[in-house]
Amino acid sequence: MALSTFSRASEVDPRPSTSAWQRIRYRVQQFGASLWPRVAPQEIDRVALWLPPEGVALFLRMIKRDQRHSLDVQQSLLIAGHDQPDLLAAALLHDAAKTAQPGHRLKLSHRVAVVLMQAIKPGWVEQVARATPDDWRYPFYLHLHHPEMGARLAQEAGCSQLTAGLIRRHQVKLSAPPVDEEDQLLAWLQIADDAN
Ligand SMILES: [Fe+2]
Ligand SMILES: [Fe+2]
Repeated sequence: MALSTFSRASEVDPRPSTSAWQRIRYRVQQFGASLWPRVAPQEIDRVALWLPPEGVALFLRMIKRDQRHSLDVQQSLLIAGHDQPDLLAAALLHDAAKTAQPGHRLKLSHRVAVVLMQAIKPGWVEQVARATPDDWRYPFYLHLHHPEMGARLAQEAGCSQLTAGLIRRHQVKLSAPPVDEEDQLLAWLQIADDAN
């Protein structure tokens, strides 16, 4: 299948001809959904179709907001017709290391700080990050290193090498056209991740 393009969810207005009031209401609902993300029990049940039992446990340790994001990434892939199991498993766990390690979570405040720091001074986050889990600056390290940490967690949870490889590489954009299966799956994962 050729590379599919996704629209950013935030840019998709389901009813472009609606009134300004309806558009405002839609945006408010969207904002509310991001503040109070919901995951239906049936969605959790379906996670077990793609992950081994330890992988499901890892998924459930993520905060609800990241569970929602991961399910949405997977859903984008499914809608686009991608059914490769390692890819769909990677979609569910690609950001697991951000919040699945109890006591060491990337909170919303850290995410906001990262965005601001990157905008104000490129390289600032890298300067501030510390690898010591007890340090208050550890969440910045977590932000920078969640791909390789997540790959390790996924592998320990029984996921495949290919799933772990996709998670390890998911933040690094391909600099050339895909040359093998992993590259191609990675490109699809990144498109879906960017769209959600
Ligand atoms: Fe990520
Ligand atoms: Fe993501």
